[in-house]
Amino acid sequence: MRRKIFITGGGGMLASQLEHFYRENQNEVFAPRHAELDILDDGTLRQALHSFNPDWIFHTAALHVDACEENPELAFRLNAQASANLAQMCSERNATLIYISSCGYFGDEIKYYAESDPVVLKTTYARSKFEGEGTKRILFTSVI
Ligand SMILES: NC(=O)c1ccc[n+]([C@@H]2O[C@H](COP(=O)([O-])OP(=O)(O)OC[C@H]3O[C@@H](n4cnc5c(N)ncnc54)[C@H](OP(=O)(O)O)[C@@H]3O)[C@@H](O)[C@H]2O)c1
Repeated sequence: MRRKIFITGGGGMLASQLEHFYRENQNEVFAPRHAELDILDDGTLRQALHSFNPDWIFHTAALHVDACEENPELAFRLNAQASANLAQMCSERNATLIYISSCGYFGDEIKYYAESDPVVLKTTYARSKFEGEGTKRILFTSVI
């Protein structure tokens, strides 16, 4: 089935792989770069969703670990608040949102984790990502 796939944070590491994979498989993909679509701008994001009318939204835009420690305010605005806003917009459109989780929720021991493991939030990155995921339990998350 051909789907319309919207990817936030286009040009990023995961977004580039997703864009390639879904295009190769005959889907229609819209993956704007940060410079083309800033997801902190609610109005522009809402308009982009409305214009493209996606079936699935992969939400890969995020502030990485070091940048979160350097700018905690932006970390929570992007990783938490903008994610919650996007979840709300997807829910209103009845579109499927795929949020990318993190093994950083479980502390810093290097081992395999299960989603049921106890959460130990040691970094600003982990706290802000977890808050973004937790404000609305989105359709599914995956630990990578
Ligand atoms: N990489 C990992 O090991 C790993 C592990 C677990 C989970 N994750 C999660 O997987 C997802 C993708 O990670 P990744 O490694 O592919 O990250 P990445 O390469 O840093 O890509 C993130 C993209 O988001 C963009 N971005 C930042 N702020 C934005 C904004 N306000 N509006 C729109 N785009 C914005 C960045 O653009 P600029 O660089 O131009 O700002 C960048 O292109 C993230 O949710 C991350 O938390 C990653």
